[in-house]
Amino acid sequence: MLKQQAGDGKRTSLHGNWSSRMAFILAVTGSAVGLGNNWKFPYIAGQNGGGAFVLVYLICVVAIGMPVMMSEILIGRRGRRNPVSTMELLGKEEGSSGKWRWVGSLSVLAGILILSYYSVIAGWTLAYVVKSAAGVFVGASSEMVESEFNAFVGSWQLVGFCHTLFMALAVFVVARGVERGLERAVKFMVPALLFLMLVLLGYSINSGHFGEGVSFMFTADWSRLTWGSVLAALGQAFFTLSIGMGAIMAYGAYLPEETSITGASAAVVTADTAIAILAGLAIFPLVFANGLNPADGPGLVFDTLPLAFGQMAGGMFFSTIFFVLLSFAAWTSAIGLMEPAVAWIVERLNRTRAEAALIIGGAIWVIGFGSVLSFNVLSDVKFLAGTIFDNVDYLTSNIMLPLGGLMITIFAGWVMCRNSTSDELGGSGGLYKAWRLLARYVAPIGILIVLFNAVS
Ligand code: PFF
Repeated sequence: MLKQQAGDGKRTSLHGNWSSRMAFILAVTGSAVGLGNNWKFPYIAGQNGGGAFVLVYLICVVAIGMPVMMSEILIGRRGRRNPVSTMELLGKEEGSSGKWRWVGSLSVLAGILILSYYSVIAGWTLAYVVKSAAGVFVGASSEMVESEFNAFVGSWQLVGFCHTLFMALAVFVVARGVERGLERAVKFMVPALLFLMLVLLGYSINSGHFGEGVSFMFTADWSRLTWGSVLAALGQAFFTLSIGMGAIMAYGAYLPEETSITGASAAVVTADTAIAILAGLAIFPLVFANGLNPADGPGLVFDTLPLAFGQMAGGMFFSTIFFVLLSFAAWTSAIGLMEPAVAWIVERLNRTRAEAALIIGGAIWVIGFGSVLSFNVLSDVKFLAGTIFDNVDYLTSNIMLPLGGLMITIFAGWVMCRNSTSDELGGSGGLYKAWRLLARYVAPIGILIVLFNAVS
């Protein structure tokens, strides 16, 4: 996907370009579509009471997510370096300060922390490929599926093993710079995932509880909405779009001049949101049809979908394919999560890509054991937001990403001069004005209000 592959560790090697506009869109879509859509969105929506949360989430995606994504891409393309150096360079160039590099550093840290638990859940999906293929869920009852899940996450050895396997896969790809293969995978994976979601949707429409699922997702009971759930919706918008942490900035660094940033962002945001909504529409009717609890937490998808697959014709096949696709989706996202840190180490510490991937991957692997143990040995150790996993998730999605997004929009909207941004966004027409309004006022003020009210 990059014309010049970054495999030899030379700094210049990082500055190739995407082979086409489509390659960029696919890579960003690959980073955006992941566990956030299929695993996290349904359970967070369930925990926050559905309807009102979903609507706030959609508003956040359009009014905040979209301008932040455009800002990240334009900053990345202008700086053409890793997020830390890009922020430092542009900060000076725009007459502000090199201290903006701290925003880049925050992103490197956020990527490391997110991947530490993301890899654990991705490990679950790997395990569910094997379980599905072995026919574990064929004809299973909801009790059987639930106890299968509980037994699995209850074993730190198994969960730790799967986490290790997934991290090895992520490091392997990042080290070899074989994104080319993954680009092809995304081309196939996103449509295939959409197709399987449609199959599930068909099944769930026939479950007899479709209306209940739809009304859970879209009937807003505003009285149940707290600032905490608004923050969760904002955090989810950032998480699912991979924004607020420099991953998209790192990808933007390789974007050719002539590509439209607005068009590319709109395509990615649409695809990502469609998949999340589809996942919700497929899952909630099944939750109600089987008497499960929508507020069940991280196990929700792993309890509902295998149950549905287990009852449909050809379910063993579909279930296996589904978890393979989900693992792929997680894999392409993991690469985005590692990219800022790896690009930074390669450029600043003069390491090869392989060394950088190993160093960062190793650190993430170790930190990940905090989350591995959160579901078993240390499940009773709770503080602040809950278990170690809950805390890492809360800190990254609800605090670090919105803060990163806040700084990024302030930088793009206020620090960068009009000429620089209109140059990158291609003109100063209506679309540009809309972006500027959102990036200067709506997004920063919105983020500040939510953060302030939810945390105070
Ligand atoms: N957007 C990914 C998902 O929804 O699963 C998660 C993610 C990937 C977040 C890459 C941040 C990132 F840089």
